[in-house]
Amino acid sequence: MKIILLGPPGAGKGTQAEIICKNFSIPHISTGDMLREAIANETATGKLAKEIMDAGNLVSDDVIVSLVKDRIKEEDCKNGFLFDGFPRTIPQADALENQEIFVNVVLELTLKDELIINRMSGRRVHQPSGRSYHLEFNPPEKDGLDDVTGEPLIQRDDDKPETVKNRLEVYWEQTNPLIVYYRSKSVQTDLKYIEIDGSKTMEKVSSQIHAALED
Ligand code: AP5
Repeated sequence: MKIILLGPPGAGKGTQAEIICKNFSIPHISTGDMLREAIANETATGKLAKEIMDAGNLVSDDVIVSLVKDRIKEEDCKNGFLFDGFPRTIPQADALENQEIFVNVVLELTLKDELIINRMSGRRVHQPSGRSYHLEFNPPEKDGLDDVTGEPLIQRDDDKPETVKNRLEVYWEQTNPLIVYYRSKSVQTDLKYIEIDGSKTMEKVSSQIHAALED
C-alpha cells in the first residue's frame, strides 16, 4: 500500500498516520519529522529549514524532494509507505511522478480553520519519535511525559497562534491545489481518492479510514 495523507496543519495526519502504518506495516514518512530531526542534529538542511519552519513557510521543493528521494530508496519502503505532509506543492507532486513513484491512495483529512487553532494550541509532541498528544483530546498517561519512553513532551515552535495563521494561509495557497490535482488523477487512473471528515473523534476518524482503505 502506497498512501499520500493530505490535509491542513492540525487535521490529524500524524495521529492517523501512526495507526495506519501500524495496521499495514508500512513506514511513516513525514517530511515535517525529517526536517525537525535535521534541526535537532544541526545538519546543513536543518540550519536552512529552521527559520523557514518557525515562520510557518514551506521549505524549498529541491530540499524536500531530495530528502524524500533518499528515504524512499531504503529497504523498508519496498512494500509500501505513507507520505505525511508530502507532497505539499504541485512541483513536489510532479517530481514524484517524474521519478515514477506512484501511490495507490490519496487520503484527505478535512478540518475547518476554527478547529485547527484549538488543535494546535493543545498539541504536545515527543520530538524524537514525532508522537503527538493533545492536552484535552489525547492527554499522555503522565502529565508532560511520552507514554512510550517517559521523556518530556514539548510544544512545537510553529504551534504559536501567529505562526499557525501563516501556516493556514500557506496551506490554502500552495497545498490545497493538490486536491484538484489528485482528484482529477483518480478519475483518469486507478488511484483511489478518499475524503474523511477530520473533525470527529480520533477513534471515529480512524475507523472510517480503516473501512475506506479496506473497501
Ligand atoms: P508538518 O510537520 O508536516 O506539519 P503540518 O502539515 O502543518 O501538520 P501538523 O503536524 O501540524 O498536523 P497534523 O495534521 O499531523 O496533526 P496531528 O496529528 O499532530 O510540517 C511542519 C513544517 O515543516 C511546515 O510548516 C514546513 O515549514 C515544513 N515542511 C514539512 N513538509 C514540507 C514539504 N513537503 N514541503 C515544504 N515544507 C515542508 O494533530 C494535531 C493535534 O490535534 C494533536 O495535538 C492531536 O493529538 C490532536 N488531534 C488529532 N486528531 C484529533 C481528533 N480527531 N480529535 C481531537 N484532537 C485530535
